[in-house]
Amino acid sequence: MNKKSGNMVEMDNIQTVYENEMEIIFDAKSENEKFARVVAAAFCTRLDPTIEQITDVKTAVSEAVTNCIVHGYDNCKTYDKKIYMKFILRGSKLTCVRNDSGVGIDNIEKAMEPMYTSKPEQERSGMGFSFMEAFMDELEVVSERNKGTTVVMKKRFVD
Ligand SMILES: Nc1ncnc2c1ncn2[C@@H]1O[C@H](COP(=O)(O)OP(=O)(O)O)[C@@H](O)[C@H]1O
Ligand SMILES: [Mg+2]
Repeated sequence: MNKKSGNMVEMDNIQTVYENEMEIIFDAKSENEKFARVVAAAFCTRLDPTIEQITDVKTAVSEAVTNCIVHGYDNCKTYDKKIYMKFILRGSKLTCVRNDSGVGIDNIEKAMEPMYTSKPEQERSGMGFSFMEAFMDELEVVSERNKGTTVVMKKRFVD
């Protein structure tokens, strides 16, 4: 039986794993991209990360949040334009979930190709998903048309 005490989980009295979770919901507005980056960095400080690790997380979160702002609610007047984020620390592993309730992505495989963008006229680089993949250890994208898009990113903090 697993037992919870404070933020520590004792698993069969064999090992103790640090555990912490945090959720935020904020408007899909460009000024909140910086806010999300700072929040992510602050939440990770418990793991005593290197500057490089923190920069990786901030970059990935920045790209993930920017996608909700730029693409998520494109041409949607009726949606409540919010971004949901959840951060989970378990041991040395960070899981970051980001969700919007927007237009969704029809072809995820294509969207994730390096340099693919549906907005070339805005001079978008099409490298957002590639950066998320490069700076985190795992990336998963789930999407449904007019329901929204969820991105799950994971990173292990080891030296
Ligand atoms: N949250 C989202 N909602 C709808 N479409 C998205 C979302 N995130 C990404 N996309 C689609 O995936 C494409 C690729 O995203 P990305 O690699 O970040 O490149 P960029 O943002 O520069 O276009 C976008 O051009 C867009 O069509
Ligand atoms: Mg992008």
